Amino acid sequence: MCGIVGYIGKKDAQEVLLEGLKRLEYRGYDSSGIALMKDKEDLSEKKQFFLKVIKAVGKVMCLEEKLSKEKLSSHIGIAHTRWATHGKPSEKNAHPHQDDGGYVAIVHNGIIENYKELKEKLEKRGHTFVSETDSEVIAQCIGDKMKTKSFEEAFFLTLKELRGAYAVVAVSPSDPEKILAARFSSPLVLGVGKEEYILASDVSALVEYTDKVVYIEDNEAVLLTPQGYSLRTFSNRAKGERKIETLEWSSDQAKKEGFAHYMLKEIFQQPHALTDTMRGRILLEEGMVRLGGLSSVEKKLRNITKIVLVGCGTARCASLVGEYMIEEYAGISVEVEYAHEFRYKKSLLDKKTAVIVLSQSGETADTLASVREAKRKGVLTLGIVNVVGSTIARETDAGIYNHAGPEIAVASTKAFTSQLIVLALLTVYLGRQRGMSLVMGKRILREIQTLPRKIQSILDDAKKIKKVAEKYSAFESMFFLGRKYNYPVALEGSIKLKEISYIHAEGLATGELKHGPIAMIDKNFPSFFLALNDSVYEKSVTGIEEVKARSGKTIALVTKGDKKVSKMVDDVLEIPKTLEMLTPILSVIPLQLFSYYIASKRNLDVDKPRNLAKSVTVE
Ligand code: G6P
Repeated sequence: MCGIVGYIGKKDAQEVLLEGLKRLEYRGYDSSGIALMKDKEDLSEKKQFFLKVIKAVGKVMCLEEKLSKEKLSSHIGIAHTRWATHGKPSEKNAHPHQDDGGYVAIVHNGIIENYKELKEKLEKRGHTFVSETDSEVIAQCIGDKMKTKSFEEAFFLTLKELRGAYAVVAVSPSDPEKILAARFSSPLVLGVGKEEYILASDVSALVEYTDKVVYIEDNEAVLLTPQGYSLRTFSNRAKGERKIETLEWSSDQAKKEGFAHYMLKEIFQQPHALTDTMRGRILLEEGMVRLGGLSSVEKKLRNITKIVLVGCGTARCASLVGEYMIEEYAGISVEVEYAHEFRYKKSLLDKKTAVIVLSQSGETADTLASVREAKRKGVLTLGIVNVVGSTIARETDAGIYNHAGPEIAVASTKAFTSQLIVLALLTVYLGRQRGMSLVMGKRILREIQTLPRKIQSILDDAKKIKKVAEKYSAFESMFFLGRKYNYPVALEGSIKLKEISYIHAEGLATGELKHGPIAMIDKNFPSFFLALNDSVYEKSVTGIEEVKARSGKTIALVTKGDKKVSKMVDDVLEIPKTLEMLTPILSVIPLQLFSYYIASKRNLDVDKPRNLAKSVTVE
């Protein structure tokens, strides 16, 4: 997920683009860049147009500093702030990308799944690539075609070759008064001002300049000139007029896309984020998974007999789900460790052990120390990390990126579910290297593909969850209880509630209730049960009865169609049915919303809870 801006109009393009980038910085902030079309009046007699491309690693501030040294008057340009997906943050990998013939510059948001094939083809045709990104192929592909074709023809022919997800914006000095852009699965919006047009990955970049917008649809392109815009099909045919909409968002609301908080936005982003996590990785026919980041260690992984999963906070809860998944379906023994414990423990690791660390940020000090400790012992280390190029991603031997996009709210939501998707994919990968049948591989993968749609159906029911949450917002303590796959979800639910609402919450394995915690139960101490229709359903029912007998209030999360538990508890919430190993990816969603609505009912600063930091880079 990156930020894109394009400008054509009477204002100074550099200023508008930089301002737009600053507003989009929440979408990605590891590097940025700008391409400006040199104005006609600055040209020599030869009438040659050229593009000035300037890039910088780090926040948009760094690019601004560089630009302040060479101000370039221009009225057409494109810009980008990057959240790396392929290749570490560096100037070479930053956008805009250019082709080696100097025909074109592009900015891209999304993932080009077939970039390796396209790159090989273009290399054979003599092109030299300078970056490690998937995006550069778009520029090289357009440039290659522009040797014999116009900018427009080359752009539209290139779209036909791209697979994956993209919003792409391009400019060319050969056709200097034009911007071409296209959208396939990644957002793109056009701001329509007075004799000026701004293209952006979301409205926050343009609300300063105009409140009139046209949402570019999927499979749609747009052609901009100083005189106007035209919506096109991917075959470059003009489409009919589209209604211009009027925005009612302030710029702060725009960043959150209309949601009251980043946390809520990130919860609602999950269907999209998880689609990105699985994109290009599922080989359904083979019942197999393609994990490019593991290709260098594939053979080593075949011989692994033990895995240690290491993480902190939410990442540790995900690890616990991973333990159930990998042990049950890949048949490898798994241990889960807190990173801060693992680093000081005498662990029995050997050459057949892999240490897999999970970290959204890739910078958590204890988790990083665990990687270093495991490497010192000569053990294979892998990372499941969201931030590309982060320290953990760089120091582990190999790994898998979450591709969930930046997470801004301190309380982790989409990072957690994307970690679970990665763990499920890894389970199939390891399982298929061992005893897992083709049929089982296919079954799990097919079900994984349905999850974004099922999550969406839970989100569509958010109002009901809000109503239940608000009933419980005044209590001062709460238990979250689950068994087997949903025991770690109970832990994660309790973390969510305490970190943003400051209500004392404990996550428990339901079976543990009677061994001490039940002493707490009375009418002022509610319990939230995960009582799904899985292999431990009956055992969960027993726990509910124990609490009810002590006058404790009960809420249950059940599988759609449940009759028994629904009748027993005070309040009930539902999720759709899925494979037992995948239930945590659905069951955590109502818990995220439950905590969110309680915290907002209590008027708390949901995105920045007291005493907490997004990334803990000290021991
Ligand atoms: C902090 C955050 C948590 C997060 C944990 C691990 O405590 O507040 O939300 O789960 O760090 O972070 P990581 O970036 O390593 O996943």
